[in-house]
This record gives sequence, structure tokens and C-alpha cells, in this order.
Amino acid sequence: MSGRLYGVGLGPGDPELITLKAARLIREADVVAYHAGRHGSSIARTIAADLIRPNVVEEQLVYPVTTGITEHPGGYAGAMADFYEECAARLAEHLQQGRDVVLLAEGDPLFYGSYMYMHDRLADRFHTEVVPGVTSVAAASAAVASPLVRQTDVLTVLPGTLPEPELARRLADTQGAVILKLGRTFPAVRRALEAAGRLGDASYCRSRTWTRRACRTSRSSSWPGTPRPTRSATSTRGRRSAHGPSPVSCSSSGSVPRATPG
Ligand SMILES: C[S@@+](CC[C@H](N)C(=O)[O-])C[C@H]1O[C@@H](n2cnc3c(N)ncnc32)[C@H](O)[C@@H]1O
Repeated sequence: MSGRLYGVGLGPGDPELITLKAARLIREADVVAYHAGRHGSSIARTIAADLIRPNVVEEQLVYPVTTGITEHPGGYAGAMADFYEECAARLAEHLQQGRDVVLLAEGDPLFYGSYMYMHDRLADRFHTEVVPGVTSVAAASAAVASPLVRQTDVLTVLPGTLPEPELARRLADTQGAVILKLGRTFPAVRRALEAAGRLGDASYCRSRTWTRRACRTSRSSSWPGTPRPTRSATSTRGRRSAHGPSPVSCSSSGSVPRATPG
């Protein structure tokens, strides 16, 4: 009988935010898989570390490119498509042998998570199950202790990688908003918030592990010059709606470069 594939969300980093189901599946897994950066680092693996049995088979799926620069003839998209095919083949081999595979995902597996690309390729052949996790959006909102939307407010989720004018346009056209993937995009995101008239209400939090002690939050007036967080999240109290201000929450990973004062 074939094994089962589980896409397991781990939440934003605080081990206490891992669900009981996720913890059980990780402990019981025959194979624990995770995507990792070029140097083998995986935040998901770090979050789950205490739950992984010592001699379990681990599949480290190392991204071939992280910056978009590649010599692959198909460019970044081609390199990633090949990579996901190879990853799926590696996981399929275990599944065919009857081994249950848990693929770790930070936050929620289907919210901008790489698990989705494995699901696309394997769900029609194998039993799959998605275990949801606490997203960085929920964690950011909790960290700044501010609701993202109230009543009939619209919540917009934006990648910080959008072109600056597009970001500004969308920020001006919503109540609550979330911006993920700050990193190198931080200065452009900041300018877009300013252009949309939302900067004054903005704050952000950053965290490697999202434990209460590690999570840092601040308003835009005190955004750092050159911080070096690996994980971060921003929240702004946004446009006024009929019932008062709605916040915008932005979250990112990667270091956040110096922001232009303003
Ligand atoms: C590829 S997406 C993955 C989102 C994740 N699946 C979730 O449910 O939150 C990566 C982005 O999520 C955000 N993120 C995920 N975990 C985070 C954390 N612990 N702290 C801050 N931001 C985080 C960052 O904006 C990062 O750039």
C-alpha cells in the first residue's frame, strides 16, 4: 500500500503554536521533508526540531535559486519547475514504498507555501492531507494586538515584491491590509505606504521564532535603519472606516535594508 503525504503547517515559529495534529504526524512520520535555502537552512525544520525522531529519514529539498538569477534556459520559472518536478519524484519514491511523508511548512502550507507545488504534482496519485497552521498574518495581528478588519472591512494581502505604484494603489484602496515578503523590498514598501497615505499608522513586528520574547514590534516612526531580522512583520493602523481605523499588517522574511528616512 502506498504511503500518505501530509502537508503540515507549523505556525510562525513559537513551538506552542504547533497544533497537536501536526506534532503527532511529525513524531509518527517515516519521512520528514522540508524545503531549504541554498545553505540548507530551513525555518520549518528549526520550528519542528524537537518533534523529529532521531533516526527518521529526512528529505532536504534545497532550492536551486533564490534571487531569480539563473543560467537555466527557462529562466527562474524553468529552474523552479524542474526543481519541483525533482522534489515530487523524490517524495513519490517514498510514497510508492509505503512510507508516510510529512512535508513541513512554516505558517500554513497553502498560504504562499511550497507544499502546494508538491500537492499539485502528487495529490492525484497518492492520499494527501493538509494540516493547517497559524499564518504569519494571524501572528502579526496578535503581536501588535490589533484586529486587521472589523465588520465589513476589506482585507487585502499583498506581496512586498509588487511594483511600488501597484502596492500604493492597492493600499489606498483597502481598509485592512497585509504585506508579506518585506526583505529587500522594505524601502519600496515604505514609500508605497507613504504614497498611499498609510505610513503614519504603520508599525511592524519581526521575529525569528515568534516567541513572545523574540517578537519585536514598532510603529513606522521608529522603523529601523539597518536591522537584520530573518523574519519580520509590519502592521499599520489603516484608513478610517465608518467604525474607526482598520490596521494593515505586513510581514516578511529576509533582512530588511536601510529605509529612507521620511
Ligand atoms: C513564502 S511565505 C510563507 C507564508 C507562510 N506559509 C504563512 O502561513 O505565513 C514567506 C513570507 O511569510 C511571512 N512569514 C512567515 N513566517 C514568518 C515569521 N515567523 N515571521 C515573520 N514573517 C513570516 C514573511 O512575510 C515571509 O516573507
